[in-house]
Amino acid sequence: MRMRRKKNLDERISSCDRHLLFVETADFYQKEHSERFNLIDFRKVFGNDNPIWLDLGCGKGGFSLETAKRNKEVNVIGVEKISNVIIEACEKAAETDPDNCMFLNCAVENLPYYIQKGKIERIFLNFSCPYPKHTYKNRRFTYKNFLKVYKYLLSENGEIHLKTDNMRFFEFSLQSLSENGFKLKNISLDLQNSDFKDNIETEYEKLFISKGLPIYRLEAYL
Ligand SMILES: C[S@@+](CC[C@H](N)C(=O)[O-])C[C@H]1O[C@@H](n2cnc3c(N)ncnc32)[C@H](O)[C@@H]1O
Repeated sequence: MRMRRKKNLDERISSCDRHLLFVETADFYQKEHSERFNLIDFRKVFGNDNPIWLDLGCGKGGFSLETAKRNKEVNVIGVEKISNVIIEACEKAAETDPDNCMFLNCAVENLPYYIQKGKIERIFLNFSCPYPKHTYKNRRFTYKNFLKVYKYLLSENGEIHLKTDNMRFFEFSLQSLSENGFKLKNISLDLQNSDFKDNIETEYEKLFISKGLPIYRLEAYL
């Protein structure tokens, strides 16, 4: 089902410029390769050289904002391709006006056009769309093409932290990460009943927990 476009979306997006770093325009794929680049100067944006963490497919941004609030020594960027969704994150950010949390309205696969190599310390993949049909497996955030993007973005000691309610997607991710050179650690098949402390629940996670579903979690590094 298609989501209805929010009222006055364009005006609302333009008034979010304090926390919305960039909006990928519809003509992105018509542009020449060299015209697509719009590299972000993080020092200019955040006024410091603190580590950068990305929340990919951040949805309404609750996790990005709470992560930034609890980790003041880190800068968090939520990435989401749907303007209709990220507007909620940006408007929530405007209420508390954090200096260390920003949003990017673009497709994850295009991040190397906006972020320089090796600049990212941590990537969160929270409840990414599982795309259960085999024909769409290349859209999964842990498909090999996405992993290439993360390898490019991550710093030497960078990590991926993944959570999902979807066992098949979790199994696919374990296999794809291992086959593509990532090592795995801190794997949990039931996060709620594990020793993991200080979990920050995302919007989707709250929903799955309320239904009594187990949450799968892993950390991956190179
Ligand atoms: C299932 S939601 C999870 C949202 C949030 N992480 C949470 O846990 O509540 C997945 C989000 O990923 C976004 N998404 C899917 N494919 C994407 C892509 N290629 N680039 C950026 N965002 C994407 C969707 O629009 C959606 O908002």
